[in-house]
Amino acid sequence: MKITVLTLFPELIRTIAASSITGRALADGRFALETVQIRDFAGNRYGKVDDSLYGGGTGLLMQCEPVWQAWLSAKEQMPADARSLVLSPKGRVLDQSLVDELAAAPGLILICGHYEGIDERVLEAIGAEAVSIGDYVLTGGELGAAVLIDAVSRQLPGVLPDESAWREESHMDGRLECRQYTKPELWRGRSVPEVLRSGHHARIAEWRLLDGLAETLEYRPDLFAGLDLDEDCLCRLWEHIGERRRET
Ligand SMILES: C[S@@+](CC[C@H](N)C(=O)[O-])C[C@H]1O[C@@H](n2cnc3c(N)ncnc32)[C@H](O)[C@@H]1O
Repeated sequence: MKITVLTLFPELIRTIAASSITGRALADGRFALETVQIRDFAGNRYGKVDDSLYGGGTGLLMQCEPVWQAWLSAKEQMPADARSLVLSPKGRVLDQSLVDELAAAPGLILICGHYEGIDERVLEAIGAEAVSIGDYVLTGGELGAAVLIDAVSRQLPGVLPDESAWREESHMDGRLECRQYTKPELWRGRSVPEVLRSGHHARIAEWRLLDGLAETLEYRPDLFAGLDLDEDCLCRLWEHIGERRRET
């Protein structure tokens, strides 16, 4: 997997991606990351890549030609079936199913807007798919690209030490993960649920399943509504929720 980011702020992408698990994955060659400075394709000696809006309005818009040239230069170095995405608040909202889909692509070109965004014509010419990281407006696409790179790269083979590390995490199968605890066993009067200290694998697995469902119901009733749970599972879940309430 190769990811190339077209941006006016390559240092932002490189700084974020160089840390933690992403940084290690890059160092180990689990995926490749390149940045392309759109300003290098400005075609003028000032590096100017934006201009005022037709029809009036405040702010500046990134112009077609520098983005187009930057994209062509990235495309040349990419597998033919790489996907081109533009970060945009109008786009398909990034969720785990989109992350999984993108992690299966041979390459991604991420285009980051700034100012008022990017002239529509170049996005049409590229056929860029718009992706949003949520229903709010950021100053630029770089943080969105960094979020996408983080979420996608941890799905790639060998990036996390063990597949179970992410298979059981929230959103992997439309539900949230159970509550989690580490040492000490007792912290300021609050103890770790007894079952997790019991060493009884079957009871622990059952607790994890039910607690994940309880978390989903509490925090994301919209996700819970989409789960297909039989009557027996629902009965065990209500019992578990009763125990959670007694705990607190
Ligand atoms: C200030 S925004 C432009 C917003 C645009 N004028 C609009 O109202 O749709 C500048 C850039 O930030 C990025 N951006 C802003 N919000 C985003 C979001 N929610 N998800 C992904 N990228 C975003 C995009 O690349 C966008 O071109």
